[in-house]
Amino acid sequence: MNISQQLSRLKRGIFRIKRFPRFLILLIASIAAIQFLILPALTQQPVTVQVLMSALEASQWQPFVEDFEQQNPGINLEIIEGPNETNLVEDLYTSAFLLGKSPYDLVYLDIVWVPKFAAAGWLMPLSDRVSEDQLAEFLQGDVEGGRYNGELYRMPFRSDGGMLYYRTDLLKQGGYEPPETFDELMQISQALQQQTDIDLGYLWQGKQYEGLSAMFVEILEGFGGFWVNPDTLEVGLDQPEAIQAVEFLRNTIDKGVSPPGVTTYAEEETRRIFQNGEAIFLRNWPYVYTLAADSEIAGQFAIKPMVHQPNDSSGACQGGWGLGISKSTKHADEAWKVIEFFNRPEVQQQFILATGYAPALKSLYTDPELVAKYSYLPKLLEVLEKAVLRPPIAQYAQTSDILQRYLSAAITQSLSAEEAMNRAAQETRRLLGD
Ligand code: GLC
Repeated sequence: MNISQQLSRLKRGIFRIKRFPRFLILLIASIAAIQFLILPALTQQPVTVQVLMSALEASQWQPFVEDFEQQNPGINLEIIEGPNETNLVEDLYTSAFLLGKSPYDLVYLDIVWVPKFAAAGWLMPLSDRVSEDQLAEFLQGDVEGGRYNGELYRMPFRSDGGMLYYRTDLLKQGGYEPPETFDELMQISQALQQQTDIDLGYLWQGKQYEGLSAMFVEILEGFGGFWVNPDTLEVGLDQPEAIQAVEFLRNTIDKGVSPPGVTTYAEEETRRIFQNGEAIFLRNWPYVYTLAADSEIAGQFAIKPMVHQPNDSSGACQGGWGLGISKSTKHADEAWKVIEFFNRPEVQQQFILATGYAPALKSLYTDPELVAKYSYLPKLLEVLEKAVLRPPIAQYAQTSDILQRYLSAAITQSLSAEEAMNRAAQETRRLLGD
């Protein structure tokens, strides 16, 4: 083969080598485009982010869920409706996490669940996603209630604090000022129960569940007592103040101010009876305000801080709800988008306007549109700034369970107030390792 033949063979070879890869490259590129670009685009499903909450609140979230999905077309926010009582919802989350297959990407947390859920490792830390400046916009109690061992696990969504509702028309009719002390509450109730055709004086949550503990911390604070000191784990349930607090509750039933059925009532039962115009006083959370304003007693009730002993101050139990991200989710960023959306001031403002819950964002307490609708907001802020926390300890659920059992025994007359509180204190000390 001469040089020119060799050259032309080499060229053909090169040409062949060149032609083959070109074809291959085109083929590979087309397959890749189908596989990685076109197919996913055609089959891509929006990511679903799931969260569980009480049925009552799920219905209130729904209009906002629609707004969120419109603004975030790649994310479906699915709300699973649970029972209305907080500890029943807590049980559902707890069993899902214990089984290790939680379907929930987001956790809508009552303030009292945070230490337990965080200590169990069920929640993702959030402090990388939010600055301290952003957190400073929220009520301090609500932010602190979202921390455990210095880490943030829950963003506040709405706050809560227990209040005393009273019938303005009936008090006026009897010539009474709203009560400040426990004794005044009893006296006004008894007098009005006699003078009017209203049978029930004072309604509170006496059922054996978390609401009983929440209500009790307010009575305890009003008597100057304490439950568990979170720093020292000292237990105060067998102190005279705590026993007096239980005696007060028993007295409301003994004296006919509260009906015996009060020992089976949660928030909703008491709200309905009060709204029907059947009672003078009610202990409940701010959510009742909007619902009652649209009921038979519209325009005939007001709220004030809880009553107390003459030398003590009133206590509002610090409640409240917020969102955390489940440690096991595969969609943490999408879950955070949901949190960001629900934390926007305009979303919170609209949510509060529609529901009457206590805002978690401080600025909303002076928001003109909100204050025009809920004139009590500035006062509520004062109450919430001094709200009493239930002990923020990892064993809170068991601690509260002990208290609920013994309180229930005392108010249903199975044990004396003293016996019940002595036993509650002992069991709590044993639990907390004293
Ligand atoms: C309200 C409060 C919550 C509390 C519960 C008790 O939902 O926000 O903190 O645990 O009532 O029933």
